[in-house]
Amino acid sequence: MEATAATDLYACGPMGMLWAVSELATARGVRVWTAVEEAMACGIGACMSRVLPVVGSDGISRLVRACVEGPCFDGATVRWNDVGSLPSDIEGAAAMGWH
Ligand code: FES
Repeated sequence: MEATAATDLYACGPMGMLWAVSELATARGVRVWTAVEEAMACGIGACMSRVLPVVGSDGISRLVRACVEGPCFDGATVRWNDVGSLPSDIEGAAAMGWH
């Protein structure tokens, strides 16, 4: 990525690309907005088919629904390497059976 005066970057595409773009932009001090457009089942927040681990402004990680809380997220707050898993430090993990 070449030097730029841009302060924000917008990205959509595959999850792996969003992860890569987020890392590159964040490392350069550019805020990155990612549109998570993975296949969604219900689209109304009922099925939990597409949830992402996201770090809130309070520093606590939560699973959020891409269809309801998103689909656009600050890429720096998404725990891309934990997408598709249930990290033990996610709020409510114990209630979801994490041991
Ligand atoms: S698609 Fe069903 S909860 Fe988001």
